[in-house]
Amino acid sequence: MAGLLIIETVEELKDVLFRIRSNGKSIGFVPTMGALHDGHLSLIKRAHDETEVVVCSIFVNPTQFNQMSDLESYPKTPEQDIAKIEEYVDIVFMPTQAEIYPEPPSEKFDFGQLEKVMEGTSRPGHFNGVATIVKRLFDWINPDKAYFGEKDFQQLAIIRQLVKDNNLDVQIVACPIVRESNGLAMSSRNRRLTPEQFVLAGNIARILEASTRITPCTVQNVKEFVNNELGKYPDFRLDYFEIADENTLQPVADFNGHDGVMGCVAIYLGDVRLIDNIRYK
Ligand code: PAJ
Repeated sequence: MAGLLIIETVEELKDVLFRIRSNGKSIGFVPTMGALHDGHLSLIKRAHDETEVVVCSIFVNPTQFNQMSDLESYPKTPEQDIAKIEEYVDIVFMPTQAEIYPEPPSEKFDFGQLEKVMEGTSRPGHFNGVATIVKRLFDWINPDKAYFGEKDFQQLAIIRQLVKDNNLDVQIVACPIVRESNGLAMSSRNRRLTPEQFVLAGNIARILEASTRITPCTVQNVKEFVNNELGKYPDFRLDYFEIADENTLQPVADFNGHDGVMGCVAIYLGDVRLIDNIRYK
């Protein structure tokens, strides 16, 4: 497509994409909440490489925030966002809240055990909000492929379940975590860290990485190590560290008997909540 198209209404979005699909073009979709960084960009570039038309949505979705203060302080940088992605994106969808939610949404999703752990317990209603917006966007855009980051590992599992439960015809593409030079997983919320906190936050990835080399590598040893190491930083307020099966996300007692096992962590540094994860198996 020639030039970047910025669309603000659902009607125009559906209209434009209907025409693109009629022309037989494949559509790649990257949903975001803006304040874009190289993590987002990696998803967008991959979509650009793999599909003919790339759609990126930028919408700070209020229904997935369980704390008003987090929603209010969420960074918004629309001009910089567009400058960063225009080379790789054909359509940017930047709706208003009223456009997406003319009425308060009433969707209720049930993800079973998947949403009863980690982010699901710490942030009640969060995944219902994520599923509400992603399902609506999928319905309007009807992409062939949609790109999600492994940084939000549980979100990825929820989206895969959403696709399965609703028989959606979209391929979910998981993209690896992009990190700062000190290892910190890139996140829009990192902008709210002070320079000192930013340096400190690098220890999260360092500790996770070191925890993959513990011998003997048992669940108990890894847990002890991570909890001990994180405990050395009084500014870290640990929300959870879980060692979980990569598919069910349920805590494991043993590395054996599971195809893949992940370590997932959530930590408050000041009032900024940071999440990260690492693969053990
Ligand atoms: P947001 O936090 O803006 O993230 C958009 C996408 O970028 C998500 O798939 C996320 O996992 C991915 N991402 C973020 N940081 C990353 C990193 N450091 N490396 C790789 N990928 C990264 O996730 C959301 O928005 C929202 O929940 C959304 C899906 C848009 C629904 O509102």
